[in-house]
Amino acid sequence: MAEHQSPKSWSPESWRSKPLLQVPEYPDAQKLQNTEARLASFPPLVFAGEARSLTARLGRVAKGEAFLLQGGDCAESFSEHHADNIRDFFRAMLQMAVVLTYAGSVPVVKVGRIAGQFAKPRSADFEDIDGVSLPSYRGDIVNGIEFTQEDRVPDPERQIKAYRQSAATLNLLRAFAQGGYADLEHVHQWMLSFVEKSPAAERFSELAIRITETIDFMRACGINSENTRQLNTTNFYTSHEALLLGYEEALTRIDSTSGEHYATSGHFIWIGDRTRQPDHGHVEFVRGIKNPLGLKCGPSITDDDLMRLIDTLNPQDEAGRLTLICRFGFEDVQKHLPRLMRKVKQEGRTVVWSCDPMHGNTIKASTGYKTRPFDRILSEVESFFDICQAENTYAGGVHVEMTGQNVTECIGGAKTVKETDLSHRYHTHCDPRLNADQALELAFLIAERMKKDREGQGIEAVKTA
Ligand code: PEP
Ligand code: CO
Repeated sequence: MAEHQSPKSWSPESWRSKPLLQVPEYPDAQKLQNTEARLASFPPLVFAGEARSLTARLGRVAKGEAFLLQGGDCAESFSEHHADNIRDFFRAMLQMAVVLTYAGSVPVVKVGRIAGQFAKPRSADFEDIDGVSLPSYRGDIVNGIEFTQEDRVPDPERQIKAYRQSAATLNLLRAFAQGGYADLEHVHQWMLSFVEKSPAAERFSELAIRITETIDFMRACGINSENTRQLNTTNFYTSHEALLLGYEEALTRIDSTSGEHYATSGHFIWIGDRTRQPDHGHVEFVRGIKNPLGLKCGPSITDDDLMRLIDTLNPQDEAGRLTLICRFGFEDVQKHLPRLMRKVKQEGRTVVWSCDPMHGNTIKASTGYKTRPFDRILSEVESFFDICQAENTYAGGVHVEMTGQNVTECIGGAKTVKETDLSHRYHTHCDPRLNADQALELAFLIAERMKKDREGQGIEAVKTA
């Protein structure tokens, strides 16, 4: 496999000699260099052993024995850094995970787009308003969102702030995950109260009742959260797009156990759809680090590009190393996903197939807001499951932009958000996110589908027995 890309010629800074897209223009190169040197002296945010355990869990996803739930903000921001936001997001993810665990009868691997998801790729380098042209907003780790010269000029000091915010966020997430907040009995009660209040209560109540019965049954057998650690703690991982490579390089460390390089900015990092050129810097950087990786796949990816990227990013064909996060749009998914799945199967490669139903379904509402219609998001997810079934490939996961808050950014859903509601609570710093109800509703609809597929398999098994 791809001998010319032997890891020997890789180093944490080898990306610097490759072509790069989406690079901020820092006016003061010396200040940037000093900042990166400071970051390089800071403690790692995550530990290599955690990244390895995530790879192992994703390896189970690749084999069809677990399901990946990845979600969170499009862009974290400095201004929305509150305990309540972190708590509500974590709560929404856990409820989704319970529903999916039950429906799929497999463990759900929970990965947040959080504690590091700050840098954003943009379609234009400059934004022009009323004859004034300023650098585009590239996420709080780079510059500010206000349309002023002061805010928009990239400032390296923001990387330090993003690092410190990520540390604080991760600290709270770890406390929630291990300190009792993730108790299945609580999560179950939250989920029931969501169902009760949902306009789709009738539709979701059957699944909710079955989960209640299962928990009651376990309790009757003597298994409860007081005596069973698995019921009162959970594993939660962090992820973000590895876009700002100076920051990533500064947080790359050699693991003393394995002698390998790990990105310690988060457990899982991915390459965006705009920066996945096989011979460019972003691919060069991630190929040498051992964390589990994601690769965004949009409509422009060719079969050959994909195979070249798989060769580069997962030359040993390790299960769990590479997740393909597919984001084609509800109308185009049928055109692209089957060809890519067939190619990967034909080449005998092991990947996790995950569906991002957000990034191909962004539209401009008549009121001017960027939004995503819930029914299109659902339609892409349904097509993803249909295609996986037709191609005899395991539907490994979903990747969504969501928040635990009651925002009005995506239209539709059972508690319908209308176009005219968008202005009420449109808080995102980048793309529109599902609110907590829409996210949980999506999980219920995916769960229905997973259950139907599993029951179908059961019938097939009986028929062929
Ligand atoms: C994102 O996930 O926020 C993003 C920019 O996605 P993509 O690279 O798929 O466009
Ligand atoms: Co986004």
